[in-house]
Amino acid sequence: MRVLARRGLSRQARRRPLRRSGRGDCDARALRLACPHDPGDPIAFPRRRRPESRRARARARGRRVSAAPALRFAGVTKEYALGEGTIRALDALTLEIPRGTFAAIVGRSGSGKSTLLNLAAGIDVPTRGEVWVDGRELSQLSDDELTRQRRDRVGMVYQFFNLLGTLSVRENVALPLLLGGTPRREAIARADRLVDEVGLSHRRDSRPHMLSGGEMQRTAIARALVHEPALVLADEPTGNLDTRASEAIVKLLGDLGAAHGVTVVLVTHSREAAAAASRVIELRDGRVLADTAAGT
Ligand SMILES: Nc1ncnc2c1ncn2[C@@H]1O[C@H](COP(=O)(O)OP(=O)(O)OP(=O)(O)O)[C@@H](O)[C@H]1O
Ligand SMILES: [Mg+2]
Repeated sequence: MRVLARRGLSRQARRRPLRRSGRGDCDARALRLACPHDPGDPIAFPRRRRPESRRARARARGRRVSAAPALRFAGVTKEYALGEGTIRALDALTLEIPRGTFAAIVGRSGSGKSTLLNLAAGIDVPTRGEVWVDGRELSQLSDDELTRQRRDRVGMVYQFFNLLGTLSVRENVALPLLLGGTPRREAIARADRLVDEVGLSHRRDSRPHMLSGGEMQRTAIARALVHEPALVLADEPTGNLDTRASEAIVKLLGDLGAAHGVTVVLVTHSREAAAAASRVIELRDGRVLADTAAGT
């Protein structure tokens, strides 16, 4: 994977050894989380050049971009084996999030928030029930389709950023495009546009360890959006930031989501962060306890 993952990077970046970044994230793990593939699978770099936008790619495949909800959970139960018994992380959860929504998922620790995001990302599979993303039921997809689904339609933002310590800001942001086979020049140009949008144009050649936590998270947000996904899933993106940086990050997620027509699902413990969303879904014991639209 290491050799493959380096294709498309600058000669300088290729020469840098892959190593642990300052925040304890292994580069290979960060790469997998940034652009989730089947755990353990080598990352496939298609040689064929892909049309530029998601809409253009859909046209190229001869179908319109679906008008289905961005995310739909239908009676989803997720159980984990634990010793002799099981833990039920999600319990017959039913939920629909229309396109363009900025939704916050709240709930106390262990209520199932990360499990919900992992199922939506296709990183994990439900024990029972159906998970639909962008009009496609994930269990119906072949392994290749699921890999493409995760790579092309979903962007992830994590509490610990998961940036690759050996790459610059712009290379980190370009990574999903490079993995998707976009030529380097085009990928970097598109990454630079996103880097500008998150206010980091003056740091585009910096490496992650030179950045503040807020700046790292801005980089991760740019990376989550650069390939025009249908859905951005953010798991506690402000958990490592102070109040001021947190507010700025949540506002950025909301603003960029709206500007790019992307559905954003934000998991948070922060009431202030949740208040910025247009819808707040509270989980308890793997079920929806409350589902509130902003202003109600
Ligand atoms: N891989 C796993 N194996 C066993 N149990 C798990 C696993 N992942 C999650 N769980 C359990 O499932 C339940 C829900 O976990 P989840 O991580 O979704 O909670 P959460 O709401 O994200 O919590 P937090 O706010 O602490 O991040 C918890 O009881 C947790 O211990
Ligand atoms: Mg969690």
